Amino acid sequence: MATINSNFLKLKAGYLFPEIGRRVKAYTESAPDKAAQIIRCGIGDVTEPLPSSVREAMHKGVDEQGDRETFHGYGPEQGYEFLRTAIVENQFADLGISADEVFISDGSKCDTGNILDIFGKGNTIAITDPVYPVYVDTNVMAGNTGDADEKGAYEGLLYMPCTAENGFVADVPTEKADLIYLCFPNNPTGAVATRAQLEAWVKYAKENNAIILFDAAYEAFIQDPEIPHSIYEIEGAKDCAIEFRSFSKNGGFTGVRCAYTIIPKQLTGKADDGSDVSLHQLWSRRHSTKFNGASYPVQVAAAAVFSEEGKKQVSDLITHYMGNAKLLREACQTLGLDVFGGENAPYVWVACPEGTTSWEMFDKMLHEAQVVITPGSGFGSAGEGYFRISAFNSRENVIEVCERLKTALTPVSA
Ligand code: MLT
Repeated sequence: MATINSNFLKLKAGYLFPEIGRRVKAYTESAPDKAAQIIRCGIGDVTEPLPSSVREAMHKGVDEQGDRETFHGYGPEQGYEFLRTAIVENQFADLGISADEVFISDGSKCDTGNILDIFGKGNTIAITDPVYPVYVDTNVMAGNTGDADEKGAYEGLLYMPCTAENGFVADVPTEKADLIYLCFPNNPTGAVATRAQLEAWVKYAKENNAIILFDAAYEAFIQDPEIPHSIYEIEGAKDCAIEFRSFSKNGGFTGVRCAYTIIPKQLTGKADDGSDVSLHQLWSRRHSTKFNGASYPVQVAAAAVFSEEGKKQVSDLITHYMGNAKLLREACQTLGLDVFGGENAPYVWVACPEGTTSWEMFDKMLHEAQVVITPGSGFGSAGEGYFRISAFNSRENVIEVCERLKTALTPVSA
């Protein structure tokens, strides 16, 4: 009899977004006449079409596959040189990152989960609360935690509460951590870290020989010129940080799939015998063994994001989504709710009306307004009492959501 990885049995319920999908399905089955009215502001999935420059490049990539002379079979596992170079020139100019420190993949969700393959057991893992659930669940699957308590917090993880008091940016812990997950602009709270805050994290990581896993999937949404887009803008970060980036939210690739991870060559971890081992080499070995590269047409399409036309089109997409975020922020503020995020990120993080839990708010919005939001508690116990609205939508839908929020949340006597 084959045994299983029993760590999976420690996982709480379903992954957040399938659970939301299950509740929405149950609702539409019970109220089929309402199904067509539902507006989804739950999962942060882009809604606007792929930029034409990206589509044209992808078509060209597909056509090349139709000719023996230009056909591409297996590509380099780490990604094509043309894309890695375009990334470095356009995203990391002057930051000292070289093209061979970039690994192309099919998604940051996969990369942030798979990265645990190269780390050992017994690391103290620091995780913000609330947090993108993938970081927690993949550590549970990898056996890096004990069981969860009644609030869903796993034994063995070092939780760093992010609250309105600290602006949803975790303070460096007093304890020693080995692996630290940071996500800025933050999913789910939309918070951003200042240069000084990131400097404190890099200092902490270097003092503790820790590695920062820096998820910058939403960097393109930063509007404030003072906010760093990359951890490598901070001196010393190349000695202690891995950065994850994605084409999903800027180029609209959620259905196309392309992302990349930066692992500086000087980054090391400790082997059992105490020697320092290159994390770049380990990830390269892992990537070559478990991955055959993102598809050629997709990488050609991703490179088009950096063409002159592509940059303009991506900028228009960001302007569109950030315009949505502004409307959603204003609608919630008008209702007297405490509103965070949405200024440098496509997520608006809102305190539920007094006395309402996150899931109660989710149910209210679904049943009374036919709007799907994400309950803050789904991102961790510190998210209880909040909900997240995704700004990824058409303008028409966002205007409608603002109206429905007003109707659902304005007291009858008002
Ligand atoms: C989210 O809604 O939190 C994101 O879409 C999840 C993801 O990017 O995987």
